[in-house]
Amino acid sequence: MRIAVAIDGPAAAGKSTIAKKVALMRNFSYIDTGAMYRAFTWYCLQKGVDCQNEEACVALIPEVNIEFKPGYVVLCNGIDVSKQIRETNVSGNVSYIASYKDIRLALVEQQRKMAAKDSVIMDGRDIGTYVLPEAEVKIFQVASVETRAQRRYLENQEKGIPCTYEEIYADVQKRDYIDSHRDFAPLKPAEDAILLDTSNLSIDEVVIEVNNIIDQKLEELKCQKE
Ligand code: CDP
Repeated sequence: MRIAVAIDGPAAAGKSTIAKKVALMRNFSYIDTGAMYRAFTWYCLQKGVDCQNEEACVALIPEVNIEFKPGYVVLCNGIDVSKQIRETNVSGNVSYIASYKDIRLALVEQQRKMAAKDSVIMDGRDIGTYVLPEAEVKIFQVASVETRAQRRYLENQEKGIPCTYEEIYADVQKRDYIDSHRDFAPLKPAEDAILLDTSNLSIDEVVIEVNNIIDQKLEELKCQKE
């Protein structure tokens, strides 16, 4: 049975860590929609375009081609930008780019096509509310801002991305504010999403929880079919 799992939530809530693990265990495809907004932002910065200038950024849509390759590789116009898109200048500008409706429409079209192929786990901000409103499983993953900033700080240290804890804390707060206050497809839980607070849970505990939610849904769907 083909199903879609939507994992939404605020910045650095650990969505992609969980989504990758669950996707591997279940042989589902994993689609990191945040990486697409980040790659678009990287391109704008490369071109020297001001990310707060909507018109100038939207004008670049026809020039930007984003692809995923195995191993969580993100290509922008054929260039591997997997590492650059995690850097602080991209994080600091991505929420402006993600607030532009035309850019969202272009990327969402691509996201829906990718999701139509196999069973999929997609993470982002608007997956359960806008991209895949019919997703069988919707999870809204949260954690306190301190926990999220601390997790992202450690993750960046491991990846060798220079930053301070204070910078990350401010970035997470700023992105949450912009992401949840934009007009088009803002960050918010879908009405039928299951809220998962991971502040006091380990990665393995969250993976177990998400797998249980998926198993339960599959069981329900099987019963409905019979
Ligand atoms: O991993 P992290 O939570 O830091 O962020 P991400 O998932 O890589 O997303 C980066 C940014 O892209 C978010 O702060 C949003 O501004 C935007 N985004 C979005 O608007 N809609 C999505 N479906 C995914 C990301």
